[in-house]
Amino acid sequence: MAGRNKITVVGAGNVGATAAHWIASKELADVTLVDIVEGTPQGKSLDLAQSAPIDGFDVKLVGTNGYDETADSDVVIITAGLPRKPGMSRDDLLKTNSDIVGSVTEEIAKHSPEAFIIIVSNPLDAMAQVAFKRSGFPKNRVIGMAGVLDSARMRCFLAEALDVSVENVTAFVLGGHGDTMVPLPRYSTCAGIPVTELLPEDKIDAIVDRTANGGAEIVGLLKTGSAFYAPSLGAVEMAEAILKDKKKILPCAVYLEGEYGINGLFVGVPAKLGKNGVEQIIEISLSNDERAALQKSAGAVQELVDILGV
Ligand code: NAI
Ligand code: 2OP
Repeated sequence: MAGRNKITVVGAGNVGATAAHWIASKELADVTLVDIVEGTPQGKSLDLAQSAPIDGFDVKLVGTNGYDETADSDVVIITAGLPRKPGMSRDDLLKTNSDIVGSVTEEIAKHSPEAFIIIVSNPLDAMAQVAFKRSGFPKNRVIGMAGVLDSARMRCFLAEALDVSVENVTAFVLGGHGDTMVPLPRYSTCAGIPVTELLPEDKIDAIVDRTANGGAEIVGLLKTGSAFYAPSLGAVEMAEAILKDKKKILPCAVYLEGEYGINGLFVGVPAKLGKNGVEQIIEISLSNDERAALQKSAGAVQELVDILGV
């Protein structure tokens, strides 16, 4: 019998620790939680392990400040990074998180050369580019998580407006993870019916706007941090699609080489995830306005990538 899968989560903060929680309660894989802060990954893993008898899951949980115990992970979720602090410019944050993601990626590539890497750290698309370049992994094994979160936010708002189950609603968001993202109401449905036939234009516009600013809305409420329940579950859904070879089409930041007219850049598009990671990039037809919005969003990602020179 094959052993259990192994997922390493780097960064034991809000997103990382909550990802470990979802993985364990789904019994998806053994989890190694890594952080630079001594005691944090160890303490959170031990606490989570002590919830196992109550919830009834059997997975091994390890917390560590090094990488030896991450060896031979099947999937690695990278959430390590700093939030923006007072006095820090966007570029400072970009550089700091790029250094963190770059060094973490090198350790991962050394210890788990066959792993699939799912990036969560921000700014998302640029950090995926850093991980791709620093790992030397093929493009099917480095994927950024943002679209699952952004489209889940849109689904949540649409279901509320339509007063239906969230399970009835699908939503489509393309582009980079920032305020230039491109929510696509035309491709968003309720029980198969395009939402553009069910809601007035002004309501849809408000939902599109709220989706694009979904992260800032939560930061405004929490004040001391950003969203973590939905982001962590988004990363775990992607890991699950890979580990269970689900062939699931999810909006992911993937390395484009000509698709959607974008070349050499991570941008969010629909991708099929299965046992080989990104197995297909799905190209949908876009109106001129939608295509222009996607190009603008890709341009915003390109600016960050140019600053980093990756
Ligand atoms: P957090 O501050 O709660 O946790 C970050 C953790 O990373 C901390 O525990 C810190 O000690 C650790 N860390 C820093 N440098 C490290 C290193 N070199 N090695 C290992 N660990 C290191 O932050 P949170 O809320 O968990 O967010 C994590 C990242 O995810 C942030 O960059 C955030 O902006 C991003 N994020 C991205 C989302 C997306 O949709 N892509 C959604 C939500 C958050
Ligand atoms: C979010 O969208 C902060 O990227 C994070 O919640």
